[in-house]
Amino acid sequence: MYKCAIILAAGQGKRIKSTVPKVLHKVAGKEMVNHVIDTIRNAEVDDINVIIGKGADLVREKTADRNVSYSLQEEQLGTGHAVKCSKEFLRDKEGVVAIFTGDAPLITSETVKKLIDTHVSDKNSATLLTSLIDNPTGYGRIVRSNNNVEKIVEHKDCSAEELKINEINAGMYCFDIKSLVDALDKLSNNNAQGEYYLTDVIGIFKNEDKKIGAVITEFEQTIGVNSRVELATVEKILRDKINRYHMDNGVTIIDPNGTYIGIDVVIGQDTIVYPGNYLEGHTTIGENCVLYPNSRINNSTIGNDVEIQSSVIIDSIVGNETTVGPFAYIRPESKIGNNVRIGDFVEIKKSTIDDNTKVSHLTYIGDAEVGKNCNFGCGTVVVNYDGKDKHKTIIGDNAFIGCNTNLVSPVEVKDNTYIAAGSTITKEVPEGSLAIARAKQTNIAGWVDKKGLKK
Ligand code: UD1
Ligand code: CA
Repeated sequence: MYKCAIILAAGQGKRIKSTVPKVLHKVAGKEMVNHVIDTIRNAEVDDINVIIGKGADLVREKTADRNVSYSLQEEQLGTGHAVKCSKEFLRDKEGVVAIFTGDAPLITSETVKKLIDTHVSDKNSATLLTSLIDNPTGYGRIVRSNNNVEKIVEHKDCSAEELKINEINAGMYCFDIKSLVDALDKLSNNNAQGEYYLTDVIGIFKNEDKKIGAVITEFEQTIGVNSRVELATVEKILRDKINRYHMDNGVTIIDPNGTYIGIDVVIGQDTIVYPGNYLEGHTTIGENCVLYPNSRINNSTIGNDVEIQSSVIIDSIVGNETTVGPFAYIRPESKIGNNVRIGDFVEIKKSTIDDNTKVSHLTYIGDAEVGKNCNFGCGTVVVNYDGKDKHKTIIGDNAFIGCNTNLVSPVEVKDNTYIAAGSTITKEVPEGSLAIARAKQTNIAGWVDKKGLKK
């Protein structure tokens, strides 16, 4: 059977008090709407349509790599109106549409699958996801009679009796496409909020004797984020879950409360993560690594047996048995080889550093290609910028760069070379040679005495 999904993401989210649309606020390093998209995608849905409105361009931009289509809801007149805006997307389709809100990121693919499977196997016209909670304030209530779902009543429209119901609407549903499209035309906005509620479709189906089912799931998965406090609540739940997953896979996390691992991060067995690490984006950490405290690693691939401490690594690759930090900064598009040392106060930008090279301290390398077995003395600077353009530096294998060298780009240092400390290199250093590029030392004998400065 054909299965598609709609994600509601057009609201601003007044209660979150932000200039950024609510669904773009991040949980575990990923926008809420992208959590929902990825989860639905994993549940093997054919097409996904995202309803956008407030901050539409930004939502499009942040979801651009996810192969979804969009429908525009120019005015936010309610969740029912939002779904109506996907008319074009639903046109001539037959089968199941699953509808989710973009502000409930904890739902799992298993639950989405279960919802769709139940809907299909029970031959329902609508199937809701619900959960049971002690304090249902704010949520739509599930009204049942003889155990069958009759309707959903929004919190603000509830009678005193209905307010006591503790089965809530998760805002996640499956519908038969044709029946849904028909019912959307029958919605009215005659309610406390003056909005067209998607939830009213259930009551309409009931009146038409259509079959309605419900799948009850744990509340945690259905939490909707409306405020910053709820954002932090959801963040904590997801972080704990992610940390537990890695620990179950053989990763030591010394203090899970102080370790922040994004949802798409992969970590190999026997790696040890100290507190204060932020691992974000599509980052992969190999096996047997030690991540000492306080690093931020974003969209990077780290090999096996690597040690990193108090450093920042962004959009880069680090090879096996390499050590980084403390206080190193590896900027985008860098590729660090195996058994390399990137030491303290070293900045690498858009450069390749090949195997067994040591850059131990206080060095800047930008727009450079560095070979194998090189040694950078303390305080080396690649002078890659002339005030107007960036230029490239190429260093071969086995180069020994003396302390406090400037490499004025574009420049090339060939294999098996030495550069004397304090040199400012502006010309090629040919293979096998020693380059000295500094003023010769002169000693003026007896100068201190002559000046009467002797102490
Ligand atoms: C909604 C449900 C409620 C449920 C709760 C679960 C309705 C009427 N109510 O309430 O029963 O318990 O979710 O979290 O559906 N949106 C649009 N266009 C609009 C309005 C909203 O795209 O015109 C989007 C929002 O961006 C958001 C989602 O729909 O992602 C839910 O909207 P929200 O205002 O948060 O609904 P709730 O009041 O939480
Ligand atoms: Ca909500």
